Amino acid sequence: MAEKTKIVFATQNAGKLKEIGEILKDLDIKVLSAKEMGIEISVEENGSTFEENAVIKAKAIAQVCEEIVLADDSGLEIDYLNGEPGIYSARYMGEDMPYSIKNAALVKRLEGVPEERRTARFVCVIAAVFPDGEIRTTQGVIEGRIGYEEKGTNGFGYDPIFYVPELGRTTAELSDSEKNAVSHRGKALRKMKEELKKKMQIGGNNENIDCK
Ligand code: IMP
Repeated sequence: MAEKTKIVFATQNAGKLKEIGEILKDLDIKVLSAKEMGIEISVEENGSTFEENAVIKAKAIAQVCEEIVLADDSGLEIDYLNGEPGIYSARYMGEDMPYSIKNAALVKRLEGVPEERRTARFVCVIAAVFPDGEIRTTQGVIEGRIGYEEKGTNGFGYDPIFYVPELGRTTAELSDSEKNAVSHRGKALRKMKEELKKKMQIGGNNENIDCK
């Protein structure tokens, strides 16, 4: 019997692996982390866009692996701050700075800014590098507003200050499945699922692919 096609996701984040596994579960694909494939390399994210960084990460893993490799890059863009923190979202005020402090600092920078000018979005780009060298990327976006204080305890990062007007809640007040249904990452992943389906039909079977 043919082995399942494997996909390597360039992340250490167990939550992201679970999320992608859920979304791709009907595709007969096995999703593994780079670590599970025995690949441990650190990559410098020196691109100037989410897309460049996602491609940099996926290519780095693809160089040492013959499977389909996926990587993502995401962040928060605040219009009033000219798109900050953007690609520097994780590094904003330092990687180790607690998000309660980062969130308070962003709210402070928007002090006195009226509701209609507090617009922001989470953006996620997923890059796929295929064994034949082809690269495909997909993007997902969720639009919202920066709140006036932290609200909610689910999610992570900037979720407690990211208010979604249509839902009347911050993304930290959504359950995991509610967030996946509307989030930037959920949208980008579902688009990537369609790309994978197309590519796998065109590419035929991948039975002989083996990862080092
Ligand atoms: P990365 O794509 O894992 O490098 O994430 C980039 C950074 O963007 C995270 O460390 C968070 O600061 C922020 N971010 C990305 N997605 C989310 C989200 O869904 N909620 C809250 N913060 C996020």
